[in-house]
Amino acid sequence: MNFFDKIQDEPFRSVAQVADENNRSAYVIGGYVRDLLLGRPSTDVDFVILGSGITFAKKLAEKFGNGNSVRYFKNFGTAMVKYKSWDLEFVGARKESYRSNSRKPIVENGSLTDDQNRRDFTINAMSISLNKNDFGKLHDPFNGLNDLGNRVIRTPLDPDITFSDDPLRMMRAVRFASQLDFTIAESTFEAIIRNKNRITIVSGERIIDEVNKIIMATKPSIGFKLLEESGILKIIFPKFIALKGVEKVKGLAHKDNFYHTLQVLDNVAEKSNSLWLRWAALLHDIAKPVTKRFEPDLGWTFHGHEFVGAKMVPGIFKKLKLPLNEKMRYVQKLVQLHLRPIVLSQDIVSDSAIRRLLFDAGNDIYDLMLLCEADITSKNEAKIKLYLENFTLVREKLKEVEEKDRLLNWQPPVNGEIIMETFGLRPSKTVGKIKTAIREAILDGNLHNNFREAYNFMIEEGKRCGFEVKKIVDEPSQK
Ligand code: CTP
Repeated sequence: MNFFDKIQDEPFRSVAQVADENNRSAYVIGGYVRDLLLGRPSTDVDFVILGSGITFAKKLAEKFGNGNSVRYFKNFGTAMVKYKSWDLEFVGARKESYRSNSRKPIVENGSLTDDQNRRDFTINAMSISLNKNDFGKLHDPFNGLNDLGNRVIRTPLDPDITFSDDPLRMMRAVRFASQLDFTIAESTFEAIIRNKNRITIVSGERIIDEVNKIIMATKPSIGFKLLEESGILKIIFPKFIALKGVEKVKGLAHKDNFYHTLQVLDNVAEKSNSLWLRWAALLHDIAKPVTKRFEPDLGWTFHGHEFVGAKMVPGIFKKLKLPLNEKMRYVQKLVQLHLRPIVLSQDIVSDSAIRRLLFDAGNDIYDLMLLCEADITSKNEAKIKLYLENFTLVREKLKEVEEKDRLLNWQPPVNGEIIMETFGLRPSKTVGKIKTAIREAILDGNLHNNFREAYNFMIEEGKRCGFEVKKIVDEPSQK
């Protein structure tokens, strides 16, 4: 197989020239070659150089001229060059592991085969030559081409060796299996089971990177089932495993919330590419194990699991090295509200319930609706149909009420400042109480959503609390 056509333009042409001018051998290797064969275009390219990758990258940056700087990662012995939209990464061929966790210095005097031996999978170890004598030739010592054709993830060496070089590769195997819809070779998977405890030496940041990539796959459940089967999930995310299993009392069983959650995640993934909405799907029932009760009259209940679950989110995010910012708060909010539209869809929907939902969910209302629809995973087709029809009604009602009342990102028309100015007050609990009373009256539909009505209502509330009107305040925008 020859790739002459694919690598004759930039940036490959310049890399080949630098190799020739400096008497060095250079190869394209890894994910770029794999993706080229799979027809998945990419602009991230890894090169392996016989000699120093860093020295080579410097020469290349000089050739590209102004603005093309080199970034080094001395610990890894790698260098990055940016060229237009391309990210080019250079590494010297090595005998030792590609990304070892040991502190030993990296020895860059390996041959191409040495380097390929120390890579993670046969499909990631293929290389294409950029050298004059065999330009465009595929070097594939482990028959990665065959594995690519059969859609198999397999380590080039004995998997115990490959995984002990870098235990994160066990998760990479699962990630590639999910991303590419490949299977993991039996011997490779058995080695993952054997070596699973070694994952504990890998940093949380590298682990969560792989988890997020699994979540972003077309069908994330594939990856989570593999992580579960291998025993890795129990080590990296025990709270999630706690969802697994079915208990039976007096012949009554609850559903297996692990598989239910994965189904919800897949359903969300079909409709949305948002990592955080997918995380909300993953965590929506996370508190079911801790809130589970068997009540003789009711059967299995999980009372309050949405509130307890929302409270668990920060701890989980911290532990998993996920960001503790507005992304986390978004996930928390969706977990907390995830039953609200379902409840609405079961009842006759009142305007005030819809107003409250709009107020509580704000701009995230559409994501929340998507999550709720994804949450309907009954085996009973008729039941699903009924629920979805009810959801359509809820959506229509949401639209109707929103058009009428404009409650998305809404703030009540009378704020604390106005209350204080009118009654000559300082900030206090009572001011807060009056403010809440105005908001509630509007959400309940007892007051129209306009300044005049809200202001008059406020005066009555203030008087009831024993305050005197000191000044009549104008509507803010008309000042
Ligand atoms: N590699 C490895 N072991 C690792 C990480 C990477 O052997 N733990 C090698 C593989 O040959 C891999 C290449 O380095 O193909 C580049 O790694 P990376 O950029 O992380 O992955 P890609 O295969 O390019 O895939 P993706 O870009 O989808 O992450």
